[in-house]
Amino acid sequence: MTGANGMLGTDLCAVLEESHEVHGYDIDDFSIVDAKRTAAVVSEVSPSIIVHAAAFTDVDGCEDDRHKATRVNTLGTANVARAAREAGCFLVFISTDYVFDGSKGSPYKETDEPRPINHYGLTKVYGEMIIRDLAPRHLVVRTSWLFGPNGKNFVDTIIEKASKNGSVRVVDDQRGCPTYTYHLAAGLRDVIAKGLEGTVHLTNSGDATWFDLARCAIETAGIDAEITPVGTSAFPTKARRPAYTVLASDVLGKAGIEPLPPWECGLREYLIRQGLIKDEGG
Ligand SMILES: NC(=O)c1ccc[n+]([C@@H]2O[C@H](COP(=O)([O-])OP(=O)(O)OC[C@H]3O[C@@H](n4cnc5c(N)ncnc54)[C@H](OP(=O)(O)O)[C@@H]3O)[C@@H](O)[C@H]2O)c1
Repeated sequence: MTGANGMLGTDLCAVLEESHEVHGYDIDDFSIVDAKRTAAVVSEVSPSIIVHAAAFTDVDGCEDDRHKATRVNTLGTANVARAAREAGCFLVFISTDYVFDGSKGSPYKETDEPRPINHYGLTKVYGEMIIRDLAPRHLVVRTSWLFGPNGKNFVDTIIEKASKNGSVRVVDDQRGCPTYTYHLAAGLRDVIAKGLEGTVHLTNSGDATWFDLARCAIETAGIDAEITPVGTSAFPTKARRPAYTVLASDVLGKAGIEPLPPWECGLREYLIRQGLIKDEGG
């Protein structure tokens, strides 16, 4: 696995280790930008499956340093794809809802045309194209709005701000599917076990705005804070964000795979795991 120390990678390693021998690598081991080293590690380990979760994931940072974003997310992905092809192994690529422009206004299916509006999304779309082109056996998994204990995430930021300041302003005109990394990791284990190939959307069920997610986190954690909905223009960012990237899946149902639990369940489990609320069962 690449990106093994990241927010998703850490939970995914733990989940997959229950049933597989996992070799996890991250930037401290080698950079996927180094084609020779990537090929050498893959050839040495000779895995049956590679999960490629490494990426430059700072969406605004990708605008600041477009060369790095392209090198890591597109060329790095090409290096992993070539190595997977040489080793004859199955390649799972983690992609994003930000491949879409957000103008559809109804949930995006696997067959919808990507049209990214920021550089991060563009580098991931090119990554997807390269995977399809270079890796004969692959699965592109698009997911979204991740939160988990092993990385900087929106839920932690909101809880910290609300606790410290007693009030938060949160964007209410971007809608997506918040997803708990542990639930996603279990879902990835299941789609891999089913031998799914092609492209699949995998997120917690249901959708929300950032405001909805923040309100649920603050209320569930029992924090006494005022929360105000604001428009995207209240927080100018380097990268444009798509207004609507709810992901739906035709593929999961057809493969007989259960959807992931509602995002509110993911949030509750996450807050329990972080010790912010008690586990009262049920
Ligand atoms: N976070 C989200 O909301 C979200 C949503 C949709 C899709 N995704 C996708 O899901 C995957 C996992 O995301 P995540 O949030 O878990 O990301 P993350 O926490 O940033 O983890 C990515 C890991 O990849 C490493 N990495 C960066 N450049 C590398 C390189 N050149 N060679 C090897 N490793 C490198 C990172 O190291 P450093 O931390 O040192 O850079 C980090 O440990 C990514 O492919 C991302 O595009 C994420």
